[in-house]
Amino acid sequence: MRARVEHGVLGYTEAGPGFFDAVIGWVGRRRHWSIEREWITPCPGIMPSMAHLLRATLEPGDGVIVQSPAFSPIPVIVEQNGLRVVDQSLRLTDNRYHMDVEAFRAAAERPDVRAFVLCSPHNPMGRVWSQDELALVAGIAAANDLLVISDEIHAEVVFPWAQFVSYADVAPDSSRFAILFGPSKGFNLPGLRTAVAVIPHTGLRAAFHRELHQVNEDFGVNVMGAIALEAAYGRGAEWLDALAGYLAGNLEVLQAGVTERLPGVEVITPDASFLVWLDCRALGLPDDELQKRIVDQAGVVIEPGIAFGANGSGFIRLNIGTQRGRVTAAIERMVAAL
Ligand SMILES: Cc1ncc(COP(=O)(O)O)c(C=O)c1O
Repeated sequence: MRARVEHGVLGYTEAGPGFFDAVIGWVGRRRHWSIEREWITPCPGIMPSMAHLLRATLEPGDGVIVQSPAFSPIPVIVEQNGLRVVDQSLRLTDNRYHMDVEAFRAAAERPDVRAFVLCSPHNPMGRVWSQDELALVAGIAAANDLLVISDEIHAEVVFPWAQFVSYADVAPDSSRFAILFGPSKGFNLPGLRTAVAVIPHTGLRAAFHRELHQVNEDFGVNVMGAIALEAAYGRGAEWLDALAGYLAGNLEVLQAGVTERLPGVEVITPDASFLVWLDCRALGLPDDELQKRIVDQAGVVIEPGIAFGANGSGFIRLNIGTQRGRVTAAIERMVAAL
């Protein structure tokens, strides 16, 4: 990136062979997924591509399955594009969230339901879905001809106790699915607005491209973002693995601190990412009071759980992607405020 800045020309840029090779190499090495170059579409982000895919294939009023608690822009994108969220609440038992497969089947069989947005690993609680869970929903989705959009942006940082499985590994061959991912979360590059959509199904890809063409979004990539993707995917694996180890250490510090010092708060152990979902329901505080004490009084910036849906009430999401000393400091401040 520095060399490019020194070169001085930041004109319109197309994704070159290096970009595609970097993506193909990355998913081949990290996910053991062999993809073809034409399946890959560079895009500025996960959310815009999700919107384009939904617009390209659904009719106004169609239902889209979203599993809550959900990263809030997902239901917003669904609704802002004239579609309806069909909410599937994830079940929390023994510190772990689960899909309700029978409820999913019932929703998928409804004639008005046409798509499923999977978040894998799931934001906010960092759940990595197992091969069995994914195979079950993939079978149901294919049987009901659902479009499946798998948002795999958090798949780069996965802890040693979990094994990430891409939706692509379980989807029946001919099914219509798109895998959206990029280096933005793992390598902290979201401001460079560079991601990819990988779509093996020719018809779905063509519909997606038509949508992109209508808004001139099939024109070029972010020049710095493309360079960053190539560098991250080409040479960043070791750094990323070290990061995952460091984050696992941060998580341990958080878990120990919360257990010892914050009775009534429970860490939902994540399998992936730098985001941690904390169950504060036993404190008995209303969401606005929780927010006031942690953000305003303690000065710890968290996301209130309620922002992820009604079933996020009483929870908070904390980002531990930072220096360990800050995690310790955040615990100290929360102890004082709670
Ligand atoms: C699950 C999930 N999807 C998508 C995004 C946003 O992706 P983008 O900025 O590429 O649209 C985020 C960002 O936090 C996220 O957590």
